[in-house]
Amino acid sequence: MKVSDSAAKTLVWAENLSKVYETPFGKIEAVKKVNLEVKKGEFVSIIGPTGSGKTTLLNLIGGLTVPTEGLIFIDGCYLGGLGDEEISRFRGEKIGFIFQFASLIPSLTVLENVCLPSFLLRKRSKEAILTRAKMLIERVGLSGNEASLPFCLSGGEQRLAAIARSLINQPELILADEPTGDLDEETEVKVIDLLHQLNYEEKITFILVTHNLKLAARGNHLFEMREGKLTERDKGNL
Ligand SMILES: Nc1ncnc2c1ncn2[C@@H]1O[C@H](COP(=O)(O)OP(=O)(O)O)[C@@H](O)[C@H]1O
Ligand SMILES: [Mg+2]
Repeated sequence: MKVSDSAAKTLVWAENLSKVYETPFGKIEAVKKVNLEVKKGEFVSIIGPTGSGKTTLLNLIGGLTVPTEGLIFIDGCYLGGLGDEEISRFRGEKIGFIFQFASLIPSLTVLENVCLPSFLLRKRSKEAILTRAKMLIERVGLSGNEASLPFCLSGGEQRLAAIARSLINQPELILADEPTGDLDEETEVKVIDLLHQLNYEEKITFILVTHNLKLAARGNHLFEMREGKLTERDKGNL
């Protein structure tokens, strides 16, 4: 295995990764023997039909789901070797999540939503967290909305707030699961542009799941998920 050779540059290393869900109706093989290497600073896109295992794969990489088989290393750390508390701390420090649906807490303001992952991590002072949260709200273009409740924002603005929240703990890796699926095309492009800016300017590594092939082709690598299997696609013929 090459993980130690390339540890300086490899951020995500998944090897022979499989996930089988046991349901009352039988087993579902959602992810089948997936191998994936993502280097630090890369922007990787994953496309594929509904039900092909994209969300499950992101959840495995983010340590939200335990694999049935296989290994995942994030920044050289073997996730399977961490206990529940260690893994949630590791996740809080290293990984930002942008989920498929609006995931802001409806009863909290934009500022409180953005601060929340950092309050949970309890690593910085309240003042430092608030300062960073305000800076991020400005960075994503939502200045003036700090005290708004999520329902006062448009779908696109809610997604921008979720992006600000994903950045609060200065993650090295952001996992974005169809973050723009329900937005109009113009807003979608604006949100994905912001992710690329963050990738370019702050060297944050991204794994983006999207239905939009044109937007997916903008990444360094394009993968396709089909029936649980992941294959790299040539961007040249898109
Ligand atoms: N928690 C779960 N329990 C049982 N089956 C699941 C669960 N999550 C996903 N699945 C099944 O696993 C397959 C892959 O789902 P998913 O990873 O959500 O795919 P995608 O994100 O590509 O739509 C689907 O058949 C789905 O029904
Ligand atoms: Mg999904």
